[in-house]
Order: sequence, then structure tokens, then C-alpha cells
Amino acid sequence: MCGIVGYVGEKKCTPILINGLKNLEYRGYDSAGIAVMEQNHIEVVKEKGRVKNLEDILSSTVLNGTIGIAHTRWATHGKPSKDNSHPHKDNSNTFAVVHNGIIENYKELRMFLEDSNYTFYSQTDTEVIPNLIHYYYSKYDEKTKDNFLKSVIYACNELRGSYAILVLCNDFPNMEIVAKKDSPLVIGKGTNEYYIASDIPAVLNYTKDFYFLDDNNFATIEENEIHFYDSNNIELNKDLKSISWDCTSSSKRGYDDFMIKEIFEQPEAIKRTIINRINLGKICNFSDINLSRKYLSAIDKIYIVACGTAMHAGLVGKYAIEKLAKIPTITEIASEFRYQNPLIDKNTLCIFISQSGETADTIAALKLAKQKNCKTLAITNVIGSSITREADFSIYTEAGPEIAVASTKAYTCQVALLCCFAIYLSEVLKRENTNLLENLKQELLCIPEKIETILKNCDVVEDVANKVYLEKDMFFLGRGIDYTTCLEGSLKLKEISYIHSEAYSAGELKHGPIALIENNITVVGILTDENLIEKSVSNLQEVITRGAKTFVVCNDENVANRFDYSLVIPSTYTYLSPLLSIVPLQLLSYYITKEKGLDVDKPRNLAKSVTVE
Ligand code: F6R
Repeated sequence: MCGIVGYVGEKKCTPILINGLKNLEYRGYDSAGIAVMEQNHIEVVKEKGRVKNLEDILSSTVLNGTIGIAHTRWATHGKPSKDNSHPHKDNSNTFAVVHNGIIENYKELRMFLEDSNYTFYSQTDTEVIPNLIHYYYSKYDEKTKDNFLKSVIYACNELRGSYAILVLCNDFPNMEIVAKKDSPLVIGKGTNEYYIASDIPAVLNYTKDFYFLDDNNFATIEENEIHFYDSNNIELNKDLKSISWDCTSSSKRGYDDFMIKEIFEQPEAIKRTIINRINLGKICNFSDINLSRKYLSAIDKIYIVACGTAMHAGLVGKYAIEKLAKIPTITEIASEFRYQNPLIDKNTLCIFISQSGETADTIAALKLAKQKNCKTLAITNVIGSSITREADFSIYTEAGPEIAVASTKAYTCQVALLCCFAIYLSEVLKRENTNLLENLKQELLCIPEKIETILKNCDVVEDVANKVYLEKDMFFLGRGIDYTTCLEGSLKLKEISYIHSEAYSAGELKHGPIALIENNITVVGILTDENLIEKSVSNLQEVITRGAKTFVVCNDENVANRFDYSLVIPSTYTYLSPLLSIVPLQLLSYYITKEKGLDVDKPRNLAKSVTVE
């Protein structure tokens, strides 16, 4: 979950590496470091804390090298400290390595290396890697590039777990070797230069052309040359792919934080996601996933598998697919799915949702579904991400880079895409009235404008946030589709504001949680499903009677007037309502967090891509 950046080229690399690390801080921010090739020796500078701390030290250090590697850490093995931060060197100071991932067998390897007289200076799993590379390299009499590569390959073949690594070697000052297994790594190509990174946004300022490494791939990179190899040292061909992300999309563009910028980007992001899918008067366009009518008619069950916010999008997907396409659908948390021996077979379509496309549990769940002969469909935001290389088919949300740790625009794009897919299934299988489906498509096209209307009222939510930001606990209540919004709203609040919050189906309140309602506690109600509003209003009345303050999001002034605070949002079809009702909750979390003076984009203990189990 750490972030890594590398550069090989003609320019001084330190500013490029630091800029890349800043763009990657959402991946981890416990400590940061760089290694730069300086006149045949590797200079390492590292520091505990944020990239800014490293930058401060570098402001008084002269580094002229044009080849380097860098790292921002999210601690797994060993507490955040200077010693534990990357890059790590081997005992002979020949190699420097940055690593993202976890080496599961590092204890065995460390014992083996200690028996061979290697000494360790950190508590990390990573430090075995440069020493193991050195162990193999020292067996060669000749210092050749080929032997450098072979030593990296042999070392990696010994590692169990996940890694993306960048390696520098004193003996080859013009070269960097990189390797990957189960952790993301991309190589961007410029003119006479290469940019290496764990995530595209790190280097999007410099290039849009990328090589994507597969697992167990290696690359040797020099200024004008790049070669790819597999773990048997056989050379591979790789195509360069261009991506469409706009380079300004990974900057704040005048907003205070990435999260608020991303909340405001939702109308455009949703438009991009659905515009080429919706054909009025014709079946939605999913020609990119080649699922035949015969296959779709035979599926008797759909599983939607994901983690966190993506799983909440999956809950909306289940609702839409079951109601529109009449296919029983189960939405499951990936870390549960992978260990529950799910009842799936060739007649189950398994959909995996992941913004990053790198979430370890989601990818493991996908691999399990493939073993059981299911067809697998990935929904992701990142072209070339690991999930797209595993799934039978991939479709993309067009959210653009999402930098804030708390997911906002990726969620609404996932929901919009799932709704389109549900309509498509219904059209292909003729499971719903054509008028309803056509109206839904028309309405989907209106959603971006309706979100704009909500965003124009953000000050109403800000006022509510200013009144409730000192709360210790909050509750979110809703029924049916509104309950899925409550789950997502509650997750947003707790992850960035650190306020304890719970989402409950309003009908469950009496079965336990109402015991927690006390004077002045804030309860948020989502009241958009017209068939269930009166029932949820009664439940909210019960908490008011017990002293709670209420904030509701609803479609009707008359309903709104019954509560302490409210926001009336445009109405829409129930299937699509989470696309609108989540927006005030995203804003509420954002403004509460700002009012508390916390870092909205980088909440404590969290990282954007969870690439370890
Ligand atoms: C919450 C959040 C996480 C992610 C989850 C899955 O705001 O961002 O809950 O949704 O870690 O991440 P992806 O979608 O990258 O698989």
C-alpha cells in the first residue's frame, strides 16, 4: 500500500521523484525516502513522517543524479521510523531497493541471510530483498548487466507474498531494474526517459504512454532502452498503451482538498461513464464485454464482490439487477467471499468492483471465481490495473484519477455503470417493460444536472456540519435503497472525521440500537423511497421522542419540515436515487472533518489502495 516512483533519463531526478511522491501520498504517509545515483555511488536520504519532511531535508542536500527511486510508506512490518523507511540497502552498499507489498517469508529469508553473515538494520520485511540480490550477485566473478538482472530474478523467485520493487546498483549507474508480483507497477515513457510508479497519477504530469507489467515480470531500464523479461529470464514483448486521463485531473485545481474537488467532479465523471453506454431507443451498449444472449439467459445467479465503498455500490447494483433483470444477485464482501466456499458455478456471473483495480481481497476473490469456472467481469477505474489482467471482461468507470482516500466520484460512477448494466441485462433478456427502461435511460442522462443542483446547496450541508461536528456518535437510518446510502454515508463519516457512526435499516432500530439513542445525539435519515417514507418517518419520530436531533435528506418540503435540519434534493427513480442522496452525505462528512481541522484527504491509518490482505 506504499507508493513508489522511479526515474531514468537525462533530467535531475530529485524534483521528479518528490513530485511523484507528493502525488502518491494517498498510498501511505508514515515516512518517505529517495535514492539517487550520484557519480557511481547511491545516495540515500530518508525521513519519518510526510513527504514534506523529506523535502525539507533535501532542500539543503545537493543531488545531481538523473536516475533514482523513491518511496512513501504505509507501515506494515516495523513502526514508522527513519530506519524502517525505504530505500533499503544491502550490507555492501551495492544495491538500493524500494518495495511495495509484503514479503510473507521474510523471517525465513532473514535467518538464512543472517546465517550467511548478513546484518539487518531495520524491522522491515523489505531489507531481505537487497541482501538477497547481493547474495546471488556476489556469486558471479563478472559484474555484468546480465548478472545484475539474473540476481534480481533469482532473489524475486525466492520471495513469497507481493511486491513491486525498483532496484539501483552501484556497478551500473545508468540502469534501474524493476519487478512486480501482486502489487501495481507501471512504466511511463517519455523522450529518452522513463517514469516508473505504483500508480499512474504519480507521473501523469510527464507522460500518458505506459507499459503495464504482469506478475513475475521484470524490466531493465536505461535512458534509451527498455527490455522486459519473465521469471525464467526469457525476453518478452510489451505494447505501449496510451491513457486518456487529463494531467490536470491529478491536481487540486484551486479546491482546498482533493475530496471536495472530486465531489464536485461527479456530474462530469458520471456523464463520461454512461454517455457511450446509453442508446435511447436501442439496447445499451456493452459490446465490449461480449456476453451472449444465450449465456445471459442461462445464468441463474449473479455475485457482486468488492470491499468498502465499492461493495456499497454493489448493494445498489444488486437492487437494480434484481428489480430490472430479475436475476437473483448476492453482494458480498471480498474478504468473506474468498474464504466461504461460495456456491458458484458456470451459471453464475461474478462481478468484481474495484476503483483501484489493485485490492488484494477483491483480486483473490476473482481468482477463486475463475477456478470455479464462473465468468468474471471487473468494474474498475484504472486501465491496466491488476484486476483487468485477471478478469474475463473489464468495464471502466470514467471517474479520472481519484486521489482523496475517501472514495466519492468512483462510487457514483460505479453505481451509474451498474444501473446501466442492469438496464442492459433487462433489455437483452426482455425482463421489463420497454417504456420503463427507456425512461430510466433518459433519467440517467439527467442525473448529472440533478447532482449540480444539490452541489449548489452545499452551504446548507455546511451549516448542518457546523452544528454537529463535535458529536461523538452518529446514526444513519433508511429503508430499502436508502439503507445502502446510509451504509456509504456512515463509512464516509467515520473514515475521515473519526466520529463513530452506524448505519441501520430503520426497521431494525427497535431490535437493539435504539438503546443507544440519548439526548442531543444526531441521527441522519434518508427518505427518498416513496413506498417506505412513512415507515422511516415513524422510526425517526421514535428517536426524536428520545431526544435525538435529526438531519434528513428527502424529496419533499412537507417531509423536510418535520425535522431539525433537512435538505430537499431532486427526485428520481428509486433505482437511481443513491446517485443523488449520497452527495449530501459526502458533503456532510467533508465539512464536519474540515470543521474539526483534520486532514480530509489523508485520514489516519488508511491508504487508498489496499494491496495487502
Ligand atoms: C472508502 C474507500 C474504501 C475502498 C475500498 C475498496 O472511502 O475508499 O472503502 O472503497 O478499500 O477499494 P477499491 O475500490 O480500490 O477496491
